[in-house]
Amino acid sequence: MAHFEKARNLEEWLDQRLAIKTLRRVLAEEYWIPKNINFLWAMGMVLAITFGILLVSGIFLLMYYQPNIETAFDSVNYTIMKEVEFGWLWRHMHAVAASVVFLIIYIHMFTGIYYGSYKKGREMIWISGMLLFVTFSAEAFSGYMLPWGQMSYWAGMVITNLFSLGSLELNGLVEWIRGDYVPGQAFLTRFFMLHVLLLPLAIMALIGLHFGTLRIPHVNNQDGEEIDFDEEAKKYLAGNTKESKVIRFANDFLSKDMFVVSIFLIFYFYLVFWHFNFAMDPINFDPADGLKTPPHIYPEWYFLWSYEILRPFPKDPGLVAFGFAQVIFFLLPFLDKSPNVAPASRRGSFKIWFWVLLLDMIVLTVMGKLPPQGIYSTIGLIAAVVFIGLWVVLPIITKKEKAV
Ligand code: HEM
Repeated sequence: MAHFEKARNLEEWLDQRLAIKTLRRVLAEEYWIPKNINFLWAMGMVLAITFGILLVSGIFLLMYYQPNIETAFDSVNYTIMKEVEFGWLWRHMHAVAASVVFLIIYIHMFTGIYYGSYKKGREMIWISGMLLFVTFSAEAFSGYMLPWGQMSYWAGMVITNLFSLGSLELNGLVEWIRGDYVPGQAFLTRFFMLHVLLLPLAIMALIGLHFGTLRIPHVNNQDGEEIDFDEEAKKYLAGNTKESKVIRFANDFLSKDMFVVSIFLIFYFYLVFWHFNFAMDPINFDPADGLKTPPHIYPEWYFLWSYEILRPFPKDPGLVAFGFAQVIFFLLPFLDKSPNVAPASRRGSFKIWFWVLLLDMIVLTVMGKLPPQGIYSTIGLIAAVVFIGLWVVLPIITKKEKAV
């Protein structure tokens, strides 16, 4: 066993046993962040904080929620909303955070795309990010089932039906996933388990992985400059802090992160107190009824773009297009053939590609909410074809891209 001196204080006592000073140096004081980055690089921290809010508010909701098809609806809409003191606050905080987290995820993803932060050496950052996106999507969907309202029931029905894989008619698989012929008690119990246990654990592990993947390549910067972090760190430690291109993660960069987080929290609590309704579908305030299909079934806003890629096509091609939309973002680092790490504004055709993709996904989102009739379904179809086309042309245009 190692030799232990009598410690003079708690920090020293812990340091002897857990090397906390080394840990602090490696994770905070000597974790180097480029100086030339803007507020968009704080979105990762905003996401981490929002996930924290979801965990804490979720724990409070869990104290009164009942995962039973007879009582789930009332436990949310009556017990939590009316009987429990401040139950409404935890519910509104949870629902608003669940919606806003997707807005921030999309901003974070598109920042990465704009600045080319998924390029050589950073592929694992991107892939772990995409795994987080998929897991968050599953977390949001499973949570949506829990109040056992009309939209919970029917969205659950529609999404699990997709697993029959169209003409393959794998109805046995759908029943296996549901644990019944239609969504019922077995369905609610397993989605409850996924929502409160398995998926949050997976998200925490993936956040750990995502942070780990940042460590060796370091975060990108807004000029795409290749920084020699060892060299710049030496300058910083030698006292040439002005000349050095990097700063410490903590407390220097962290204080900037926290400034952006504070602005975000003002906006978030404004929504929680005054505009929580946007995060809750009015149809879900009717209890689930397997005999009454709502006239128009649609998912939450953050799934609308991929829903609209499924909807305008006939059954089988629609499923293939939907599957394509789910996986294609994972392949971005390999489909973008240009070695340029630079903002899209300096990358010729890629600049157009980026803005068309963003606009197209906004159009898909708007059309996904509207009924699939007349002009709306035509626009939806065009936007879905454009989405697929954009990914097909990406390797071609980026291969031809000039070095910048
Ligand atoms: C949802 C939970 C997520 C958390 C907590 C998170 C957290 C972070 C943090 C703290 C950073 C470093 C600072 C920054 O650039 O903001 C980062 C960077 C990054 N994240 Fe995420 N992220 C999440 C999801 C995603 C998703 C969905 C993607 C997209 C696929 C993604 C892709 C990236 C990329 C490419 C970088 C590197 C940025 C750069 O090098 O400049 N992340 N993330």
